[in-house]
Amino acid sequence: MKLFNFIVLLSTLFAMTEAYAIDTKNGEILYQAYCTQCHGKNGDGWGVNAASMDVLPKDHTDTKGMITRTDEDIFIAIKKGGKAVSKSNLMPNWDANMTDQEINDLVAYVRLLCCEKEK
Ligand code: HEC
Repeated sequence: MKLFNFIVLLSTLFAMTEAYAIDTKNGEILYQAYCTQCHGKNGDGWGVNAASMDVLPKDHTDTKGMITRTDEDIFIAIKKGGKAVSKSNLMPNWDANMTDQEINDLVAYVRLLCCEKEK
């Protein structure tokens, strides 16, 4: 029983470290710097580039659509580009310019935009 409690404590601590490792605020900063020209400042898909694009950037505030994507789908879309998730290659790949940590921060921010509306 004692060992069991110890394991529970360890896994809780581990889970907390994991959670704190994700920095949604950093995700927002990255998003505002690199994503808004296409996806829009609010993530609604209407960035300055959108009007001239053949395939519209995804509306990240579209809860219904985005809820069907797993965190991994979003991660791969950002890291490897649209083509890797059977989307348009107008969605660039960022693996040369971002660490996995930064991409995870972006995934958390995209999730916030789509699925956990903050007031
Ligand atoms: C040059 C314009 C452009 C930029 C810059 C851009 N995107 Fe995209 N993105 C697109 C387009 C276009 C699509 C939609 C592709 C499709 O629907 O076929 C897309 C799709 C996506 C998707 C997939 C959504 C889905 O339907 O599953 C994610 C996630 C995403 N973008 C995140 C980002 C993030 C995060 C950044 C910034 C690091 C970014 N994008 C920067 C154009 C862009």
